Amino acid sequence: MNPSSIDRRSFVARSVAGGAGLALAAAQVGASSEQKPRRIKVGVIGCGSVSHKYLPHLAACPFAELVSACDIIPERAEQQAAKYGIPNRYPLIDKLLAGAPFDLLVNLTDMQEHERLNRQAVEAGKHVWSEKPIANSLSAGQAVLELARAQKVRLWGAPTVVTSPQFAFMARTLAAGALGRVAAAHADYGHTGPDWSSFFYEKGGGSLPDLGVYNLTTLTGLLGPARAVAAMTSVVTPTRQIRKMGRIQVAAEDNAMVLLDHGKGVMSHVQCGFNYFNPHGHEGRTERRHTITIVGTAGGMALVGYDWEPQGVDVATQKQPAYKRHATETDGYVWEQGASLAAECLATGKEMQITPEHALHVLEIIVAARESQDTGRRVQLRSMFKWPIVADASKD
Ligand SMILES: NC(=O)c1ccc[n+]([C@@H]2O[C@H](COP(=O)([O-])OP(=O)(O)OC[C@H]3O[C@@H](n4cnc5c(N)ncnc54)[C@H](O)[C@@H]3O)[C@@H](O)[C@H]2O)c1
Repeated sequence: MNPSSIDRRSFVARSVAGGAGLALAAAQVGASSEQKPRRIKVGVIGCGSVSHKYLPHLAACPFAELVSACDIIPERAEQQAAKYGIPNRYPLIDKLLAGAPFDLLVNLTDMQEHERLNRQAVEAGKHVWSEKPIANSLSAGQAVLELARAQKVRLWGAPTVVTSPQFAFMARTLAAGALGRVAAAHADYGHTGPDWSSFFYEKGGGSLPDLGVYNLTTLTGLLGPARAVAAMTSVVTPTRQIRKMGRIQVAAEDNAMVLLDHGKGVMSHVQCGFNYFNPHGHEGRTERRHTITIVGTAGGMALVGYDWEPQGVDVATQKQPAYKRHATETDGYVWEQGASLAAECLATGKEMQITPEHALHVLEIIVAARESQDTGRRVQLRSMFKWPIVADASKD
């Protein structure tokens, strides 16, 4: 989809999915059904690789106005500001927060920086959309969320996988009982790793928060919150060549296998890594294999392509044992739409299916997987999120 081709009506129809009204945010921005909602002023921090995907989507979003760009590498903020007509640019968060007023911080910085920057923005009264992870630990993330509630601002974290039509189709298929008694699921995602920044391999980085996070969000979103984790992680490639930096030591896991207990006997397995030969590289559109499979006593279901750029869902049941493909349309879904959805929620008061509690649950799984590796033990989880996610999942 070309984001610049989205008009306001189709943007609304395609993006925010169902849910209750969000009176608080609507009241804050003065939106009503008769009034054209005002655009949410957006400040973007981190003008690296992923900003090249976010900024065109935000620039085309009828609910967002790009006000400021910030990067500790000032040329990057300058370049993106010039390209997308962003009037203000800053080298540091302090200057961004003290500068031109805005409502929503979009945090696209290094993974290790998210927690600190998200907290600082919330303290300054800003709503936040954060790339993953939302924080470095469950307790720190929960503290930022509590602060956000006290400040009456919203906090959301990537990924956006639960907003795809394929996720909705899978949720409804499960809720309809089409697979019988669900038993097990598997998901995997990998490539040979980014080479443009070292943070992916430093402490606080790793393949779990960068790649596994998608499958963990999808499987907990479909099968429910996990109760316990057992995992093994490793480093397969101890040094890496990073562009403009040279060779670095790898500290964070670049190979991970995670087992989840979802309760009622349902188990799932997620594997991810930065050492996977992948003919598609970082490209999602061309991937056609089944990356997620779910099986029950009366059927099986498989996602075609990645959960962040899904191509369809294959279902086989007792009644129809050959795989039949469903949900092949994107309906406008793109993985980089999260900040635009956040702006839409704030502008219109409509709620979305992405919640900070879910992001924190996935973060807890990632931290627990590392603990399981370090201790050789299975780790109990304590966080929860509102589930099922797809509100009308039981109607079909
Ligand atoms: N690159 C992708 O395709 C992609 C896709 C999905 C999600 N993500 C996520 O997006 C985030 C960023 O990844 P990336 O690939 O764009 O990395 P990147 O290294 O290309 O960009 C990060 C940018 O943030 C800036 N930055 C770091 N700390 C900062 C600070 N304190 N204040 C201001 N600017 C700061 C850096 O200078 C850099 O320009 C990560 O969480 C990553 O997991 C990336």
